[in-house]
This record gives sequence, C-alpha cells and structure tokens, in this order.
Amino acid sequence: MAEKREQFRSRLGFILAAAGSAVGIGNLVGFPVNAAKSGGAAFLIIYAAFVVFICLPVMIAEMSLGRNTQRNPLGAYKSIAGDNSVWKFGGWLALITPFMIAVFYQVLTVWLLGYFIGAVSGNLEAMSQPGYFGDFINANGVFIYLGVLTLLIGVILNSGVQNGIERLAKVLMPSLFIMLIALTAFVLTLPNALKGIEFYLVPEFSKIDLSTVNIALSQAFFSLSLGMGILITYGSYVSKKESVAGGAKMVAMVDTSVAFFAGLLILPAIFVFNPQINTDELSSSSVALVFTFLPKIFLSLQGSIGFIGASIFASAFFLLVFFAAITSQVSILQVPISAFQDQLKYSRFKSVLVLGACAALLVIASMVSFGRVEFFSEFLAYGGKTNSFFDLVYDVFYETILPLNGLIVCLFVMYRWRKSKLDQELSVGDDRYQGSFTQKYVNFALSTFVPAILLFVFVSTVLLKFAGISIF
Ligand code: PHE
Repeated sequence: MAEKREQFRSRLGFILAAAGSAVGIGNLVGFPVNAAKSGGAAFLIIYAAFVVFICLPVMIAEMSLGRNTQRNPLGAYKSIAGDNSVWKFGGWLALITPFMIAVFYQVLTVWLLGYFIGAVSGNLEAMSQPGYFGDFINANGVFIYLGVLTLLIGVILNSGVQNGIERLAKVLMPSLFIMLIALTAFVLTLPNALKGIEFYLVPEFSKIDLSTVNIALSQAFFSLSLGMGILITYGSYVSKKESVAGGAKMVAMVDTSVAFFAGLLILPAIFVFNPQINTDELSSSSVALVFTFLPKIFLSLQGSIGFIGASIFASAFFLLVFFAAITSQVSILQVPISAFQDQLKYSRFKSVLVLGACAALLVIASMVSFGRVEFFSEFLAYGGKTNSFFDLVYDVFYETILPLNGLIVCLFVMYRWRKSKLDQELSVGDDRYQGSFTQKYVNFALSTFVPAILLFVFVSTVLLKFAGISIF
C-alpha cells in the first residue's frame, strides 16, 4: 500500500509554512524598491488591490487543486486530466519552474549568508565599498557558503513536511516578525526618518502608469509564491478539516503586511542616510539594493550608534532576509521533491539527494557566470545583448513563466476540472463557503478577467524581454 501522505500538523503550522514561502526577498527588498520608485502609497494601494482581487483567487485555486488531488503539480494535472492529456504540459511547467527559480534564488541566498557573516565579523566598512560586491561574488568563499547552505537545506527537507518545513517555519517566522518590527521601530527613532515615512505614505498618483501597474502585478504574483507549483504542493499537505480559502486569506494578509513593514524599514533608512536622495536614482534591481546600497546605509548609522551598533544592525538585517529566503527556498524545493516521491516512488532521502545534486550543479554554473567562466558568462544572446546563464534563468523563469503558469492554473481549474468541483473542494472544512461572497467572487474572477490579465502580462513580457518591444 502507498505510504500515507504527510500533513501539516496544525492550521497555524500550515499558515506559517505557506507564509514562510511567500515572505522572501521579494517582500523585504523587491517591494520597498518598487514602492520607492513608483509613487509610494499609490503603489501600495494598487499592489494591495491586486493581491486581493487577482492573486487571492489564483492562490485559492492552486491550494484547492493540491488538496483535492493530494499530489505534486504534475500528479495533480495528470490525476484530473489523465496521463495523456495536453494539460500535463502545465504540470511539467509547474515542476520545472520552481526547480529553476530555486537555482537562482539559491545564488541570492548564498550571498545573503556571506553578507551576514561579513557583517557579524566586523567587515561592514569593506562591504560598503563600491568594488566589494563584484569581488565577493567571484571569490572562492561563495562555494563554501554554498556547501553549508546546501547541507542545511538538505537536512531540513529530509526531515519532512512536519518535522522539517513546519518546524522551521514555526521558529523562523515569529523570529522574523520580531526582528522586522524591532528594526523598523529603531529606524523610526533616527533623524530624518520621518521624511522617509512621508515619502512612503503620501501617495503620488502621477507616478503611476501602465508599466507601474504591470510591475505591481508581477511583484504581487511573485511575492505570494504563485505560479511556482508551491501552493499546489503545500495544499496537498493540508488537512481536510481546514478551510482553504480562510488559510489563503491569512497567508495573503501576512505576506502583504510584511511587505508593508519592509517599506517602513527601508525607505526611512534610506532617508536617514541621505535626506536629499533622489529616489529615481535607486536602482530598480533588488540585488543591487541589498548588496551594494544597503551596506553603505548601514555603515552610515555609525554616526549615531557607533560602528558596533551599525554592524549589529546590519547583521540583524541580513539575518532577517536570510531567514525569509531559507523558508522560501525549502518551499520551492519541496515541489520537485514531492514529484519524485509521488511519481517515481523515490524515498524522501533519495529525492533530496538527487535533486540537491542536480540543483547544486546548476547553482555552480550560475555562480561562475559572473565573469569567472566565459561559457556561462556569455551564455546566450537575446533581447539585443549577451546574457549570462544566471540572467537567462532569471529572465525565463522568474520574469516570464510565472504569469503563464498562473494562466494555465486558472484555465485548468475552471474549464477542465470545473467550477462545481472547485466549489466542492473549497466547502470541505468550511461550512460557510457555499453561497458566500468569496465563492461568487472566486468563480467569477477565475473564469473571466484574471486569466485575461495574466495572458496580457505574459505576452507583453515575452515581447519586451525577448524581442525588445514595449507595449506600454
Ligand atoms: N515569495 C517569494 C519571495 O517573495 C518568492 C519565492 C518563493 C522565491 C519561493 C523563491 C522560492 O521572495
């Protein structure tokens, strides 16, 4: 007989694990950068509306699909549409996407670990110098960090859903909330912080145009871990006693609150550093912000709290983002692991080992693509320039495929699996779902405008990234 599928131990455990997946570098860094560049609260309002009206229905669809089929994404598509249906293409995409996103996310997580250790060991001064980041990513030390991290993540995943993922989330997520609030509260006591708050919370609607709307939607989609197969997989570990829609709402709320607080931490910190800053100059890349800009800001705090104080602050910040990244990383790797367990009947250990080894090789290929090895550094030309292997993974999987996966989920759930089945699944563990406003809204949104919008975003991103054509 097949082994009994693992389950989250409690509702809280599930919510923390799913929130652990959702809260990541996207919230803590991507969101504040985008908000800073795109009208502060105006961006926030649009973002929050997208979370509620567009992303939440997709999240509910993904989780129900997982809980109903009790499978990984590929198994979920196959078990509903049959082994030979074209829909299984969606299942494959929802397996390959998380695996490849895990590769590039692992590179960022390795760097975060390195920066945390750098700050703890008193290197903040050097870290804030212009050339430091470029040297750091090409130094041999990154491979040691990669080894440590791979081992750590492997051990967590090998401990399983309850004892690995759920336990980790129960420790790290509350620590993350406390650190975030403490760091924010501290920054707000510094001179000029109020300027940052004003900048953040007074909406500037003139900065909103179609392209910022697109950025807000992509940001929301990524931040909630949609289109990555994660919520299908996590859904498959949720007990039939729980309300899926209720859980999804909580996760969306936690994720959005963390993003909001991260803005309240980072923007005032930037204004403390330089009250005259022109935020248009902030790089649009979160990577540049975390690794080159923030160390400068942290070092500047030594004026008010001394070098040790500034180093403690920087260490706490990098640890915070590192925690967020680890809980996201385990969630995304659990997707292919569950597929190996379900489809190939591998043991958990064997799945972790095989996937860990494949992922590590691709991570190394990405890590040497910043100039160390020419083949990977100048991997492919598209969009009018030569791109590294790391760029390619980022552009294809992070920027382009997510909306496509979201679109496929909507179409699959509404037009293949069908509304009545979705309703039925969502009523399990939730007596009040039938006839509720949520039910009517989810059905309407998923069968009409949500797939239409996702299709539009997908097409416009492909045109922009790979053909250099902007339709905005
Ligand atoms: N929601 C995550 C974030 O905001 C996205 C993510 C999840 C990335 C899992 C990788 C793995 O960073």
